[in-house]
Amino acid sequence: APILCIVGARPNFMKIARLMPALAAGDDGLPVKLLHTGQHYDAAMKASFFEQLRIPEPDIDLGVGSGTHAEQTAQIMLKLEPVLDQMQPRALLVVGDVNSTIACALVAVKKGIPVIHVEAGLRSNDRAMPEEINRVLTDQISDLLFTTERSAEENLAREGVDRKRVHFVGNVMIDTLRHLLPEAATLEKITQHFSEPPPFSLQEKGYALVTLHRPSNVDDPAVLERLLTTLRTASQRIPLIFPAHPRTRGRIDAAGLSHLLENAPIWVLPPIGYLEMLGLMSRAKLVMSDSGGIQEETTALGIPCLTLRENTERPITISEGANQLVGSDPQKILTALDDTLTSGGKAGRIPEGWDGAASQRIAAVLKSWARGEEV
Ligand code: UD1
Repeated sequence: APILCIVGARPNFMKIARLMPALAAGDDGLPVKLLHTGQHYDAAMKASFFEQLRIPEPDIDLGVGSGTHAEQTAQIMLKLEPVLDQMQPRALLVVGDVNSTIACALVAVKKGIPVIHVEAGLRSNDRAMPEEINRVLTDQISDLLFTTERSAEENLAREGVDRKRVHFVGNVMIDTLRHLLPEAATLEKITQHFSEPPPFSLQEKGYALVTLHRPSNVDDPAVLERLLTTLRTASQRIPLIFPAHPRTRGRIDAAGLSHLLENAPIWVLPPIGYLEMLGLMSRAKLVMSDSGGIQEETTALGIPCLTLRENTERPITISEGANQLVGSDPQKILTALDDTLTSGGKAGRIPEGWDGAASQRIAAVLKSWARGEEV
């Protein structure tokens, strides 16, 4: 019986890309199947990632799409159940912390199908964050938990998760980054790719890359306006490139705030592909973002990152990496920006296990687990 791997949202795709081939490789390779819930469905949020990351077409697509959290989670659960009944997978493997992760894990565990969680144990300790709820619950019902940093083991121990289930393996997303970095898009190629040219001369280390999509930053029009105004001021210190998530684009338009990004050295783009993102990230002077994954990717690349949040579930990017928490206060953001521009910013070092081989380590554990060995 196969191991059923689940993806649903953009940040899942780069986590599964190297893991699936690692599981399937070798004489002792495990049968794997891929299911996409359909949580992210736009070409810019899905298709371009499958292509660039060379992820095979999913065996099953639940086609769920957007909705409230309850709608989205419930739809995924309802549609997954008959699939599991028919397939009877050996185990279900979920990554990260999106709604697709908890929805699928919950259906599987009730059917007695073992749940494997990759990127377990991260905690922001902020329960207003939907992802935090997904993390805590998924970890509680997982049989095998793979962690990216040591802090995760302590978090899981504190929540009573049996240590024997937990394996520190490093970061599968960084496997993908190392694998595809040589193919990262050049600035020239990126410029040609979009009809709207940058409103400034695009040069290596001559811009800051910005992303924004956390509900806490974009859903409240007053908070969003304050952040966009701050970005506009920041663009006078260094030009900005801002690929806008559909959720953010929607909120900006609905709140009538798009003028804050116009007639300034800010290049607003639609969501971009993985190789374009790698190209822009690795050549940026710095990154400003509220993303989870980008905190890790910038640390792996040694590019200074100012995280526009009050907390992080990835503390190693602060203690060892190139990341800095600055929150959403305009003065704090601009001060941190000025410091970074004058000092060159935090360089940091690469955390343990972020070496490109995390997928191999997971595959080794799962292969011996599948043979019935003690892991
Ligand atoms: C989800 C994840 C978040 C992750 C982010 C990365 C949860 C709870 N959140 O947030 O952790 O960082 O993905 O992208 O799972 N939309 C489109 N096209 C799409 C997908 C979404 O236009 O292909 C729009 C819809 O208007 C939708 C909104 O974006 O309502 C939000 O999408 P949703 O999947 O609910 O959450 P994200 O904000 O993308």
